[in-house]
Amino acid sequence: MDRAAATPPIDDTGPAFFSVKDIHSYYGESYIVQGISFDVREGEILALLGRNGAGKTSTLRTIARIDTPALRSGEIWLDGQPVHTMRSFEAARLGIQLVPEDRRIISGLTVEENLILAQVAPGAGWELDRIYGHFPRLAERRKQDAVTMSGGEQQMLAIARALARDLKLLLLDEPYEGLAPVIVQEIEKILMEIRGLGITTIIVEQNAVAALRLSDRAVILDTGEVAYTGPAKDVLDNADLRHEYLAI
Ligand SMILES: Nc1ncnc2c1ncn2[C@@H]1O[C@H](COP(=O)(O)OP(=O)(O)O)[C@@H](O)[C@H]1O
Ligand SMILES: [Mg+2]
Repeated sequence: MDRAAATPPIDDTGPAFFSVKDIHSYYGESYIVQGISFDVREGEILALLGRNGAGKTSTLRTIARIDTPALRSGEIWLDGQPVHTMRSFEAARLGIQLVPEDRRIISGLTVEENLILAQVAPGAGWELDRIYGHFPRLAERRKQDAVTMSGGEQQMLAIARALARDLKLLLLDEPYEGLAPVIVQEIEKILMEIRGLGITTIIVEQNAVAALRLSDRAVILDTGEVAYTGPAKDVLDNADLRHEYLAI
């Protein structure tokens, strides 16, 4: 098969919207992120893949400027802004929103209270009506204690909360973990809507096939380094790559 004809080219003309350039980060003396680089265009979805322990979560935390692991060298740029010089609250203010694996839904608060609490900068993020328009399940449950919802609904709330803040780069750490396929499809639909609005997303997933079918490009990590970078569709076509790094 003619791969060039089968795969739509990814656009690498002009400056990237988001760039990671040779980042190195450490938990104490443990050297974990060992020189990772990649680019994303505005409005793209990038799948960040690799086996357990490859460094995916550590890379997302480094991008969000969380102190652990500590970034010791390299650069991170979002829309011309030097994220590598920022603290985590500054990165968040710039629009980098990390949805961690545990989702951090606040117990004892309703869905709506969780969203209101996320609207830290009035006017920056989405209004509640706009959020509910994209998340009908959350609209139905707006008065419900958020932690009593299903895992899928809590994941939707975690994504909605990122939209309630100012969102330019969405970082998702294993959003499909523990969710039924039908719920995964519902979340995929929301992520495609977010993509349609021009928001850029990096998705980390053990369910590589689900992440890749949504994504424009893919980066595969192996022990803290980039083992592959290229179009997401090429990974699905490449059996060697899938077997070696993704166990699929
Ligand atoms: N808080 C920590 N302190 C020390 N080492 C850690 C810490 N968190 C993760 N690691 C190590 O960093 C490596 C990468 O972990 P992680 O980024 O969580 O991988 P992934 O998300 O790809 O499964 C692993 O070897 C892991 O043991
Ligand atoms: Mg992880």
